[in-house]
Amino acid sequence: MAKLWGGRFENEISGFADEWAASLPFDKALYKEDICGSIAHARMLAKQGILTEADARLIVSGLEEILDDISSGKLDLTADGYEDIHTAVESVLTERIGAAGKRLHTARSRNDQVATDTRLWLKEGILKDIGLLSDLRRALIKTAREHTDTVMPGYTHLQHAQPVSFAFHLMAYQQMFTRDAGRLWDCYGRTDAMPLGSGALAGTTYESDREYLADELGFAGVCSNAMDAVSDRDFVIEYIGACAIIMTHLSRFCEEIILWSSSEFGFVDVDDAFSTGSSIMPQKKNPDMAELIRGKSGRVYGDLMNILTVMKGLPLAYNKDMQEDKIPLFDAADTVSGSVAVFTAMFETLKINADAMEAAAKKGYMNATDAADYLVRKGVPFREAHEAVGKLVLHAIKEGKPLEDLSLDEFLEHSGKFEKDIYDAIDIRACMDAKLSEGSTSLDSVEAQIAAAEESLGSAD
Ligand code: ARG
Repeated sequence: MAKLWGGRFENEISGFADEWAASLPFDKALYKEDICGSIAHARMLAKQGILTEADARLIVSGLEEILDDISSGKLDLTADGYEDIHTAVESVLTERIGAAGKRLHTARSRNDQVATDTRLWLKEGILKDIGLLSDLRRALIKTAREHTDTVMPGYTHLQHAQPVSFAFHLMAYQQMFTRDAGRLWDCYGRTDAMPLGSGALAGTTYESDREYLADELGFAGVCSNAMDAVSDRDFVIEYIGACAIIMTHLSRFCEEIILWSSSEFGFVDVDDAFSTGSSIMPQKKNPDMAELIRGKSGRVYGDLMNILTVMKGLPLAYNKDMQEDKIPLFDAADTVSGSVAVFTAMFETLKINADAMEAAAKKGYMNATDAADYLVRKGVPFREAHEAVGKLVLHAIKEGKPLEDLSLDEFLEHSGKFEKDIYDAIDIRACMDAKLSEGSTSLDSVEAQIAAAEESLGSAD
């Protein structure tokens, strides 16, 4: 295959090495961005008098045709063994329109071209991810609204800790996914600068209008140092970093759904549409999607290590190593968008067993802290109250009873400050509602959290 850079060479590149080094098999995903970038570039060159209007018209209509042909499947760029997407598009263009095609690569390099294509592609990808996260946040809020009165055990160390509402638990994740969206927005802002016109590394000798190009391509501005523009992939690292955190949050949530759907918990039932069976055990219903999402977090962490390692130690400016950036980038983007979409659909069809949650919440002495707080309200120092209630719990465990089933005499044996109203104070819902601090699991607080989340989602649309 003829090379764009063949002039200086006496001999051909090894066919085997050429094929091995080609990026077209993966960077073909950038065809739309590459062509749109070239169309804007041709228009800019004509506007600046660097290219004739006639040549620019031929180039633009040729590129538009190529775009249509690729999109409709009429043109397969991979069939001819081109080196990369930039070479493929330019070569097909020249084949189709002749000499004018050879003028397109004036005042640019593949180095600023690939950085521009990648940023364009990523900007769209980020917006898609933010949309998917909004759907998930909406689903969480909707279910939270329905479960502000559903009590469940709150855990630390996976041991019963204090009663919380299911809505409260869901709103914790809602907060995490809100920050995830915020991280993506931050990354979007830094990706939104245009490298085109930087040339290979030092700028170009032409009077390019880079502001015009940025406008045409929808960038907020231009990269202000040509060497930086073609050298760095920090926006890719940042994006995959944000993806890795999203996968961490999804993975933790999946782990809980897997636990909750076991017969030991029975808190939720994963819909058949998101479960699979066993080829040998007829009774099985497995939460495969949740497990897979948990597993796919490993892929995205790997993608992050991949790009960090590729970039580490590269001298400025462009190095061919950087061609490897697209593999982890595309993989992380596909994995995250698929995982968020499948998770949301699985979550929306989840059956919630509020009775099982409440029954579990009544076990494990989760009202013990409230019994201690009760004593504190009666003037007992917290440390002493903790000790007294600890002994009370030990007594209750030996009796095989929850605290609320102990007699007042049994309470009084452990502290003379207990009175009849202790029973109201340790009622599971009362314990939940007694929380006064901002951001707590009390009904008022959770409703405020839901209202604030709805408002922030509304304003994000
Ligand atoms: N395929 C290359 C990449 O993705 C395009 C840039 C090539 N530039 C170069 N100087 N060889 O990085």
